[in-house]
Amino acid sequence: MTGRPSRRQLFGYAGAAAAGAAITGGVVAGDFAALGKDNGNGNGSGNGPAVLAADIDSYGDHQPAVAAPSPKHAELVALNLLGGTDKAALGRLMRLWTADIVALGAGRPAPGDTAPELAVPGVALTVTVGLGPRIFILPGLTSFKPGGLDDLPVMSHDRLDPAWSGGDLLLLVGADDAVSVVHAVRRLVADAAPFAKPAWRQTGFWNGTGPDGTPVTGRNLFGQVDGSGNPAPGTPDFDTTVWSADGPAWFRGGTTLVVRRIRMNLDTWDELTRSEQERAVGRKLSNGAPLTGATERDELDLEKRDADGRLVIAENAHARLSHHSENDGRRIFRKGLNYVQDTGATRESGLIFLSYQADVAGQFLPLLARLDAADALNEWTTTIGSAVFAIPPGFREGGWVARELLE
Ligand code: HEM
Repeated sequence: MTGRPSRRQLFGYAGAAAAGAAITGGVVAGDFAALGKDNGNGNGSGNGPAVLAADIDSYGDHQPAVAAPSPKHAELVALNLLGGTDKAALGRLMRLWTADIVALGAGRPAPGDTAPELAVPGVALTVTVGLGPRIFILPGLTSFKPGGLDDLPVMSHDRLDPAWSGGDLLLLVGADDAVSVVHAVRRLVADAAPFAKPAWRQTGFWNGTGPDGTPVTGRNLFGQVDGSGNPAPGTPDFDTTVWSADGPAWFRGGTTLVVRRIRMNLDTWDELTRSEQERAVGRKLSNGAPLTGATERDELDLEKRDADGRLVIAENAHARLSHHSENDGRRIFRKGLNYVQDTGATRESGLIFLSYQADVAGQFLPLLARLDAADALNEWTTTIGSAVFAIPPGFREGGWVARELLE
């Protein structure tokens, strides 16, 4: 090799951060609906605007994946800190991860990447970093914990397995290509090795694209359209639901994430008639419309009764019990990922339930307790993992994740 750096060296190492902003094209979440069928699957040819447009800008007020459309493939890794990792060491890890995030998000190898060819543009790769409650018992961090950021109390229907619960740090990596996700996780976990080691990993998938390539809400493995009642990114409702506006100054523009691994019993679900399945939620399977409406976005009519005087959306229907009008206006922003777990010939299926909200204790917990007490879906669902993370705000060029907390 001559003394002149190759294009890959230039982009993959020294040039990573600088080239990032130029290459990504700066597409943010709200632009995806407009992009329609151009928003994915370039798979590394690296040429042409449609491909580059799928990369998501790593910089901004918020970590970008929160408000972006659900990725087709995602992995979550929770890590626990090693004994010697203090506040300063955590800052070093965040700087390393930030360099990785900027490079990988732009489709370029991370610094020191051992498999640089696996970094490709055009796959909408995002990395979200979270901090678990125990981070805030480290010396120097105790007075900076976001209010209510505690492990959730165990619900009566929970059957929690420690193997899927808790964690000091979270990496949530998503992309429209599974190879890219696996590669990014490998890189980020390797860089974390001196500081933290994986506690659990979860892999999930979602299809948020209709047959004609336009964005759709997507379905869970019961077959239900799942996500219709969410506040829409870019609206004031979304902003007040998701982004922290009070609490510690470093956390403004951050959010909290609840991760619940929920096993779904597809065998007993399949024994129900279609109308029994629809009554359990209060929405139609065909298009996700409320049982009182015709289209997915129609408002639920929670008072409507049928000819026999029975509520059309039943008393214990999931969509009724979780609706904000029944919960003192409390809202959350849900982004599920389907999962399957194969062991030999057997398969477990479920939902990696992800919920973003400004305040876990104020918004999420009362809703969870209400559903635990009465939700029709409890008969076919069992939560087997639970974790809570603070998602720091985003960072600008030259900044890094959680700098305002750790510097
Ligand atoms: C495997 C477990 C679950 C399944 C299969 C499921 C499925 C659904 C479905 C099909 C809907 C209706 C469509 C929609 O608005 O998205 C819905 C709505 C909703 N779910 Fe769940 N859900 C599950 C767990 C949970 C949990 C644990 C919570 C919160 C603690 C929750 C909170 C909500 C909320 C807030 C809505 C929107 C209600 C509205 O405002 O219309 N869900 N869910």
